[in-house]
Amino acid sequence: MALTVNEVEKRYGAIHALKGVSLTVEPGEIRGLCGENGAGKSTLGKIIAGVVAPDAGEIMVDGKPIRLRSTAEALAHGISIVAQELAVVPYLTVAENVMLGQEPRRGIAVNRKQLRKRFLELSEQVGFSLDPNARLGALRKSEQQKAEILRAVARDARLIVMDEPTAALSSDEARQLVAATRRLAAEGRTIVFVSHHLDEVLAVCDNITVLRDGRYVRTGSAGNETPDSLVTSMTGQSLASEYPAKITPDRRGTPALRVLDLGSASGLESISLEIWPGEILGVAGLVGSGRSELARAIFGADPHDGTIQINGETIRINSVRRAINAGIAMLPENRKELGLMLERSVTENVSLPRLRRLAALTRVRRREERDSANEMLAKVGVRASAANAAVGTLSGGNQQKVMFAKWLMTSPKIFIADEPSQGVDVGARARIYELISEMARQGMAVLIISSELEEVIGLANRVLVMRRGQIVGEVADADGSLSADVILGHAFGTAVAS
Ligand SMILES: Nc1ncnc2c1ncn2[C@@H]1O[C@H](COP(=O)(O)OP(=O)(O)OP(=O)(O)O)[C@@H](O)[C@H]1O
Ligand SMILES: [Mg+2]
Repeated sequence: MALTVNEVEKRYGAIHALKGVSLTVEPGEIRGLCGENGAGKSTLGKIIAGVVAPDAGEIMVDGKPIRLRSTAEALAHGISIVAQELAVVPYLTVAENVMLGQEPRRGIAVNRKQLRKRFLELSEQVGFSLDPNARLGALRKSEQQKAEILRAVARDARLIVMDEPTAALSSDEARQLVAATRRLAAEGRTIVFVSHHLDEVLAVCDNITVLRDGRYVRTGSAGNETPDSLVTSMTGQSLASEYPAKITPDRRGTPALRVLDLGSASGLESISLEIWPGEILGVAGLVGSGRSELARAIFGADPHDGTIQINGETIRINSVRRAINAGIAMLPENRKELGLMLERSVTENVSLPRLRRLAALTRVRRREERDSANEMLAKVGVRASAANAAVGTLSGGNQQKVMFAKWLMTSPKIFIADEPSQGVDVGARARIYELISEMARQGMAVLIISSELEEVIGLANRVLVMRRGQIVGEVADADGSLSADVILGHAFGTAVAS
């Protein structure tokens, strides 16, 4: 299917999200869409897929203008979207979610056997293995994302918009997805692929379009582009070195955090670790190895047994509130769960954890709080004009920055960051790394979880590797053994015993 976007305009109140964007995508083409957070990528994707209507301009398929008033109408034209903020039905099974609206029937009843068969065929075709009978709400985000992709394919879409499809996937899964995307295109489907992972965009796309501040900048063939050429068009500046210099922490005193023999129903087994003030400890491992479960247990979000000590003092952390009071902050993998109040304003989200703690505040103190919230927002790169907007109206990457600012505002002793740069653009990513490094220099202990090995290696002083709920290896930066090969060896269980 050929897609033409013609002079599309979109405003949200005072925000001019798209300013006369035009582009054409050929049948069977994979078109990348790049741009900073808030550039308008998701808005354009949503307009193409009938999720929102443009204020002006038109969408044409195969040369004919179409007017889409809903996703159902888009689907009738063969257009589907895998959204950035997932839209799965948590209480249905994986197979039911994937086949939603397409259920094979016998009379009026759903034909379960056919449904399962069709699901398995699809998984085979795309190359994902998911348990058809698992309740989707109980699965991790990466699996939910895979189910959404299968759903788009199940609907036999001829044009699929994928908005950050790999944001929650491990690098292995991301490679699978890239391969699957290529196969879909080889079958003649047209793909619009939105991602901040420039290497991935360069590897999978035929052509790449850059948006900046709601405007079309240019389109180039992937073969002629580099990460640097894309970033220059996205930001007007060239790519800076991404990782700040590492500071070696003093590990002689009492650790800021000591975990002893931690276990949990979520699958953790006899985990012990220590982090010193000023240290950045990375946790690597495959998706499902227990990384996020470890973060959740320490943060009191999941029940656990074992001992947790903060500055040498044993503390019973049986709730998130306890953890926060003990000086722990966590940037969760899933913004919607432990993260943000979407209907509240940006400033409120950032200052609330503190305002609650400082009970009776004078007007002056409140203003001070608001000012420091805005200062923190500026540091992470959220524009001042967004301060009063409801968080739910921000772009995905900007929501992530707000969450980051919110937790840093609590001046934690221990900061746990689960996938800190998920959905964040290249420039803001560097700012977030700089902030993490600065906080560590000031004595904060940091635990970083990331599926991107590069990120863990770039930031951490030491890296623990997890497999099946246990720590199976430790790699330190100091002895020069911090490399992707060594970490992967531990993660897969193929490391040579030393
Ligand atoms: N429902 C909404 N209400 C108000 N403003 C909105 C809404 N949706 C998007 N916007 C605004 O439109 C602009 C473009 O947002 P969009 O989500 O398209 O950006 P994006 O390029 O996808 O960014 P990201 O990389 O962070 O996902 C942003 O300024 C955003 O705050
Ligand atoms: Mg987006």
